[in-house]
Amino acid sequence: MARNLIKAHDKVKGLEWTPTYVEPETKYPTKFHIPKKAKDPFRHLVRDYMAMEAEKDHRQYGFLDGAVRMDNANQVAPRFAEGMKPAMAILPFAEYAAGKCQGQLISAVDNEELRNGYLAQMLDETRHVQQEMYLGRYYMKHYHDPAGFDIGQKAFGTHFLASAGRSFFETFIAGDPIECSISLQVVGETAFTNPLFVAFPNTAAANGDQATPTVFLSIQSDEARHMANGYATLVTVLSDDRNLPLIQEAIDKYFWRGHVFIDAFLGTLTDYFSANRVGAYKNMWQQWIIDDWVGSFIARLEKFGLQPPRWLPHAQENIQWLNHSTAMAAYAMWPIAFWRYDAPTEHEQDWFETQYPGWNSHYGKFWDAYRQMTDPRNGQIPAQLFPSLPPLCQVCQMPCVFPRPDTSTMRITEKAGKKRAFCSEPCEWMFDLEPQRYTNYTNWYERFDGWDLADVITHLGYIRPDGKTLIAQPHLNHDHMWTIDDIRRLKFEIKDPLRQ
Ligand code: BEZ
Ligand code: FE
Ligand code: FE
Repeated sequence: MARNLIKAHDKVKGLEWTPTYVEPETKYPTKFHIPKKAKDPFRHLVRDYMAMEAEKDHRQYGFLDGAVRMDNANQVAPRFAEGMKPAMAILPFAEYAAGKCQGQLISAVDNEELRNGYLAQMLDETRHVQQEMYLGRYYMKHYHDPAGFDIGQKAFGTHFLASAGRSFFETFIAGDPIECSISLQVVGETAFTNPLFVAFPNTAAANGDQATPTVFLSIQSDEARHMANGYATLVTVLSDDRNLPLIQEAIDKYFWRGHVFIDAFLGTLTDYFSANRVGAYKNMWQQWIIDDWVGSFIARLEKFGLQPPRWLPHAQENIQWLNHSTAMAAYAMWPIAFWRYDAPTEHEQDWFETQYPGWNSHYGKFWDAYRQMTDPRNGQIPAQLFPSLPPLCQVCQMPCVFPRPDTSTMRITEKAGKKRAFCSEPCEWMFDLEPQRYTNYTNWYERFDGWDLADVITHLGYIRPDGKTLIAQPHLNHDHMWTIDDIRRLKFEIKDPLRQ
C-alpha cells in the first residue's frame, strides 16, 4: 500500500509541465537561489487529502449547527464576544493572503515537490477563509448585539489599529515570494498560529464560546502541513549558502513584524477581552514562541548557520508590557472602534498586578479614570486625558507606545523628505532597508488630520441602523449608549501628532 502510494505520488508529480505559454513565465521572481531537488513535504494524493478535509468540514459545520440550537452564541461572555468582532474582521484576510502566497510560490519555485505542498496549502487557506467568514456570520446572526460583525470586512482596513493587522498580513504577499514564505510559513504559521489557534481557543472556551475552538482547532490541524511546507522551503533554500544572509534578514524582519502586531492584538484579546482568564498572554508567549519555536524549531536550524531572530531580545523586553500599552491606546480611542469595550474592574486589576508585577503603577490610574468616563452624560472620553495622540509607526503602523509610553523606544526622524515616527529600532532598520516600501503610506492621522471625531465616525460608517447610536461603546450596558451627538458635543479634533 505504502509503496503504491509513493509510486502513484511520483507519477502524479511526473505530470508537471513547464507552462511556456504563460507570459511572463515567472510572474513573481525571487532573488533566492532555488535548487532543483527538494524534500517533499506532503506525501498525500489530492484524492486522500480531499476526503480528509471533507471529514473535518462535516464535523465542524455539524457542530455549528448544534451550537445554534444550544444558543451558544448567547452563552458567551459579552466582553469576549465583542473581541471576536475585530478578530473575525482581520483573520479572513490573513487566510486569503496565505492562500495567495501559495500561488506566488508555485509561480516562483521551479520545484515539483514543493509545488505539490503549496497546492494543498492553497486549498487549505481557501477553506480557512470560508470557515472564518462562516464563524463571523454565525456570530452576526445569533449573537444578541451583532453591530460590527456586519461591517468588519470593510472596516478593518480603515480602523486606526486594525489596519496594522492588514499591513502585517500583507507581508505574506508583498515582496519576494520566498520572503513571503518566511513571513507566512516560518514565522506566522510555525510560531504565531500556536498562540492564535491553540492557546486562544482555550481562552474562548473558558469564556463560554464553543464555536471558536471548534473552528480554530480544525484550522490548526491544517497548519501542521503549512509548517512542513515552510520547513521544506527553508531547508531547500538553506542548501545553497548564497541564500543564508537573505534568509536571516527575512527571519529578522518578519519575526519582529509578527511580534508587534500579533502579540499586541492577541495579547489584548486574551488579557482584556476575557471575563474568565485561563492565564496571562505573556506566559502563552513564553510557551509557544520561546520554548517551542525558538527552543526547538530555530535551535535545529542553527547547524545550517541560522541565528535566532536578531530582534528577539527586544521582543522579550516588550512582551511584559506591549499588550497593556496597546490596550490603553485602543480603549482611550474607543469611539472609533466597530466593537464595544468593557474595562477591567477594580477587582480584576489585582489579577493584572499579580501576573504583571508593576502593572498598577503604570496603568492603574488610566483604568480608574476610564471607568469614570463610560456614561455619556459625563461628556468625556479617555483620549482627552493625554496631551496628544500617540504617533503611528511608519513601518508596522502600530502606536508608538512600546514597551510603555514612559519607556517608549519611539524615534522621530526626518526621512525621505518628511518627519516620520518609528515604534522601535527594528522598524526604523526595516524602513532603511526598503524605504520605497513604506514612504508613500498615508497613516490614519494624516488621513483625518483636522477632522472632528464625529465626522470621522460618520465617514467610516461605525453607526448602528438607527442612524445615531455608535457601534462602539465604552461599556456593555443596554442603557446610556453613546450617540453621534454625544461625540459631536466633545468637539474632539483629530490632530496628527507629527503635524509640522
Ligand atoms: C494561516 O492561516 O496560515 C495564518 C493565520 C493567521 C496568522 C498567520 C497564519
Ligand atoms: Fe490558514
Ligand atoms: Fe496556514
